[in-house]
Parts: sequence; C-alpha cells; structure tokens
Amino acid sequence: AMTDTGFKKGFLWGGATAANQLEGAFDVAGKGLSTADMIRFVPKEERNGYSMDVKADYIEGVLAGKIKDRFPKRTAIDFYHRYKEDMALFAEMGFKTLRISIHWARIFPNGDDQQPNEAGLKFYDDLFDEMLKYGIEPLVTLSHYETPLELTRKYNGWHNRKLIGFYTRYAETVFTRYKNKVKYWLTFNEINVITHSPYTGGGVLVENVPDKTFEQVAYQAAHHQFVASSLATKLAHEIIPGVQVGCMLARMTTYPVTNHPDDILLAQNHNDMNLFFTDVQVRGEYPKLMERYFEENDIVIEKKIGDDEIIKQYPVDFISFSYYMSISVTTQGEKESVLGNMVKNSVKNPHLETSDWGWQIDPKGLRYTLQDFHNRYGKPLFIVENGLGAHDKVEEDGSIHDPYRVDYLRQHIEQMKEAVKYGVDLLGYTAWGPIDLISVSTNEMSKRYGFIYVDQDDEGNGTLARSKKDSFYWYKKVIETNGDDL
Ligand code: BG6
Repeated sequence: AMTDTGFKKGFLWGGATAANQLEGAFDVAGKGLSTADMIRFVPKEERNGYSMDVKADYIEGVLAGKIKDRFPKRTAIDFYHRYKEDMALFAEMGFKTLRISIHWARIFPNGDDQQPNEAGLKFYDDLFDEMLKYGIEPLVTLSHYETPLELTRKYNGWHNRKLIGFYTRYAETVFTRYKNKVKYWLTFNEINVITHSPYTGGGVLVENVPDKTFEQVAYQAAHHQFVASSLATKLAHEIIPGVQVGCMLARMTTYPVTNHPDDILLAQNHNDMNLFFTDVQVRGEYPKLMERYFEENDIVIEKKIGDDEIIKQYPVDFISFSYYMSISVTTQGEKESVLGNMVKNSVKNPHLETSDWGWQIDPKGLRYTLQDFHNRYGKPLFIVENGLGAHDKVEEDGSIHDPYRVDYLRQHIEQMKEAVKYGVDLLGYTAWGPIDLISVSTNEMSKRYGFIYVDQDDEGNGTLARSKKDSFYWYKKVIETNGDDL
C-alpha cells in the first residue's frame, strides 16, 4: 500500500523548459530574433568560465553577415516541429504539469510592435491544446532569457523604462488569448540573474551606458522588471479567473565556511542580496538594507511616482525558484574557489560532491531552502527547476543508464518530503530539462538533464531522435506513486 508522502493531492509533478533552449525554428512564422539567438557556441577549451554575455559590436557584425558563428539556440532540439512526439513522452511519464516559456519575439517580433504576430499566438494555442489533451497543466514563464533583440538594439533592453510598457502589452495579449488554457504564470525567470548577466537577464548592454557602473545599470533594470512584474500580476488577476502568478528566483542558498562571526555575516549578506528580489516581489517593498548597499556603492535607482505603490499593491501569489546547489563563502584564508565568474567568492565545500560542471550537489540544502523560504514568507512554494547536468553514454543497444541522475533527483525529493512535514506548502516540482536541451551557461548539448535523450552533439550533428533513459521509467514511477516509490 502507498504511504502518505505528505505531497498534496494534485501535486504538480513535471518538467521545466524554456523556449529558446528547445524550440529552435528561430526565424519561422514571423518570429523576430531574440537575445538568445545571438549567443554563439564556444568550445570548452576556449571558453573562459561562462559564456552568457554579448557585445554590441558583435551583434551588429552578425547582423551584417560579417561574423559567421554557430548559434545552438537557433535550432535547439526543434521542439517547435516535434512537440507532439515530445508531449506524448511527457504524458507517458504521467506529467501533471509542463513548464514552458513563451518566446516573446514570436508574439512581438520587434518587441515594440503595435500588433501581435498571429502565427506566433497560434503556435502556443496549439501547444497548450496538446498539453491539455493529456491533462498536463501549463506553467508558463513570460520572459526566460529571450528578450526581443530589437529591444536591446533600440532601447538597451530593461535598462530603459519603456520596456515596462512593451512587456505589459505582451502580457495582456497572452493573458487575454490563453485565459481559458493557462492558470499558472511566472513573470521573469530567475529575476536576480540580471545583476550577474544583464544581457541574459534583460537584454542590457552595460557598455552602452559608459557613465554608469555595472551595478547601477543592473539594479536600475531590475527595478523596471519589478514594476513590470507587478503590473503583469495585476493584469493577470483582472483577466484570468483563478489565476496564480509567481515570481522566480535563482536561489543561491549560501553557507558560512567557519563559525567566525565574519563568516556568518558574510553568508547572511549573500543570502540577503539574493533574497532581495523575493523580498520586493513577495512583501512588496525594497528591504531597508538595500538603501545602505545602494548608498555605499553609489547606486541611485530612478523611480517614478507610483512605482512603490504598484510594487506594494500587486505582490505575487506564490514563490517559485530554481535550486541546483548550495554556495559556501568565507573570510578566513584562501580556499579553492568554484563556479568561476558566476558567483563571487564561492569556495569548495568539502562535504559535498560536485557535478562535472563544478556545481556542488546538496539535497539537504534544498530542504533548508524550502524551510527557510517558508519561515521568511509563509507563502506557497513551487520548485520549478532542479536537476543534474551530466554526460550520458548511449550503449550499443541504444539504452542509456543514468543512475547518477536518478540518485540526484531521488535525494532531492526525499528532502522535499522532510520539508513538507516541516510545514512547507509545496505546490509542485518540475525537474529542469525533462528532455535534453541547450545549456544556458555553456551553450552545450552535452550538458544533459533529460529523462529523454536527444541525439545531437555540441557541434549540432545528430538525427535529433528521442529515446528514453533509465531515469524515464524511474520518474514515471515517482509520479504514479505521488513520490512514495523513489
Ligand atoms: C537556470 C535557467 O539557470 O538553470 C535555465 O533558468 C538553465 O534556463 C538551468 O538551463 C541550468 O543551467 P545550465 O547552464 O546547466 O543550462
């Protein structure tokens, strides 16, 4: 007999994706270019850490045909043409939900168009119908690292306040169109990433604002996204009965390496800077501590009258986040650093194993993160990304044995159970990349997260044929038993 796992009835098990990482078809049916279409593939040996940034000259060079690079996200795994086959596989695993994003540039090819592109709207209508046919609840991100490129070229992306208007027009368009099909919405994927990579997070080219510092530009852009997110939340509630709107944070839960009080405070500061984003989106106001931070770093946020009221009036309904690893920091001596340019001062935690990409695997950190979120905000939570990027090997008979992936996921789900028993209100769990797709941070195909394998290598060679890994059957069982049989 099945035991009560604590996961509620109707718990939303599923997978999470983003348009630019799986759709391909970058110039089909009226779609405009997006920021993601301009990120080229760089082989590992030549790559310096992560490759998420692009320069203005480069973009112009590509558009003028002077630069010929390969852009993996332009073709991705061709989900655009193969989604029926893929959806059948998700349904076979028993998915209750699928997180996708709408590629903004399919709907508004230039971002600032007056009228939406009907062919783009139609594509997502068909996609949602296909999900609903199987009883798969769509969970939709409005903006997932795929700002229309023209908004970068003409306005410098989210650094410009005008983006608020373009985004709310887009949000209103898709809310109205899909109001009978989509109940769960996320406004911005990993909204905090804009302060690490303004181009990826918001289509912002920092070098185009020469008189201002990186942080000044990034936090100003974040402010515009906060206002836009609140306005979208307001619109969603007006247009869609029973809608649930969430924020989405890349949660970087940070530990002190030692019990030196300076380490404790340093870790707290890292967590505060990360949770600043949810503080604004959930509590509806900038936390006091940011005033000091802005002052000490010469950051002045330009706000319009009414911005604070908008942020206060329309907070999110639930909190969603990605969780892949924990971070450790210290003030005490030199330690081996990890994660390169992605997280400042991050050092190796000797108690944890790392993935092939140096991400420190920490299932208990997920439990701590859930409990901490719960204590801080008391709101429903949704884990909308978690998973292991790994190299997979296809055996001669075509099978793919991925016990490492199953281990990773099992251990995280076990800790979710503990958190639920602690009192966390958990809405669902969507594993990142249920089908192999293009990596954000490295543009690789070989960094695979999927239950479903896609035949394609880093150079773009392969048939794109789909096949089931061992983890496919495992996850199916997990969903069937509502997390009992791990
Ligand atoms: C998150 C993003 O940062 O992590 C996803 O929201 C991304 O888009 C995922 O793919 C995993 O990162 P990566 O670099 O392994 O693709």
